[in-house]
Amino acid sequence: MNKRITVLSGDCIGPEITAQGILALEAVAKVFGHRFDFCEVPFGGAAVDACGVPFPDETRRACEEADAVLLGSVGGPKWDGLPKELRPEKGLLQMRSALGLFGNLRPAKLHPQLAFACPLRPEIVEKGIDIMTVRELTGGIYFGAHETRQQDGQRIATDLMIYSEGEIDRILRVGFEAARKRRGRLTSVEKSNVLDCSRLWRERAHALSTEYPDVELIDMLVDNAAMQLVRDPSQFDVIVTENMFGDILSDESSMIVGSIGMMPSASLRNDSFGVYEPIHGSAPDIAGKDLANPIGTILSAAMMLRYSFSMAQEADAVERAVSEVLDTGLRTADIMSGGMKQVGCREMGRAIAAAIRA
Ligand code: IPM
Ligand code: MG
Repeated sequence: MNKRITVLSGDCIGPEITAQGILALEAVAKVFGHRFDFCEVPFGGAAVDACGVPFPDETRRACEEADAVLLGSVGGPKWDGLPKELRPEKGLLQMRSALGLFGNLRPAKLHPQLAFACPLRPEIVEKGIDIMTVRELTGGIYFGAHETRQQDGQRIATDLMIYSEGEIDRILRVGFEAARKRRGRLTSVEKSNVLDCSRLWRERAHALSTEYPDVELIDMLVDNAAMQLVRDPSQFDVIVTENMFGDILSDESSMIVGSIGMMPSASLRNDSFGVYEPIHGSAPDIAGKDLANPIGTILSAAMMLRYSFSMAQEADAVERAVSEVLDTGLRTADIMSGGMKQVGCREMGRAIAAAIRA
């Protein structure tokens, strides 16, 4: 197969990790006889520097013309002082919205080799952690009106959380479908004891659940969910939730599987196109030092193979290669422990690419 992949490396450690994602995809192409064409375009702070805006039209076109997008990370102190419309993070939100990527999958699975890196007690970890968070990505408080105004001699800020039934239903369906293919448990996370958006959410979840009799639906308030994730993460199969709750809970779930550096994600819509990125940020403190963990990006590339290209065997091969390399004891700094061999981003990437076999 021939596929076009647009690469948005972004800022700070972005180029270092996407380089390793590309290396893994090139290894897959070679081993399985595919052709992947990569096209790199500016995004985030790099695009602000090159074109004056974080998500230029040219970048948008390059995404629209591709079969899938591999993204690194955006943001850094250099751009923190910019007006909010020009911040690299704004470019990320514009990209998600412009491309209609409403469904964000964030799998958190504990690699047994990294069990020690999990901050939870062994008897909690023993039961296994394998959670798929389905985060709504183009609505809610991220995309409602934001305003800071002057009133009665002080500033007042408002951020509007807004959801339509249509937006709620389409993400809930992603959750039900995912649970159906996994262990059949869907935890719908909201705050219906306080928020109207959440009451509508809970009502729609129950309405749709009649179409998925094979899936067990569990309602959970977000504060309780945050607590349950560390009390007993084995109770979760698929979590479906709105944009901001998903942002917060996916960082929490990344920590309980050892390191945020390990966590991939896929941002999808109702066709095969998707944007694939690690969930961690741009890590300005370690940028350019060959210290970043490329595994989140490499596993994101595996998700690209699985979800956008329907290449399940190829995706399995990448995930197996990651696991094999962890077995050999190679570790980046964030997952390092006694008796293991610490390597940089490049060496980790090379080792994984070399371990990809049919
Ligand atoms: C994420 C990030 C982004 C978000 C930021 C960088 C805008 O935290 O992808 O989780 O909040 O969605
Ligand atoms: Mg986040």
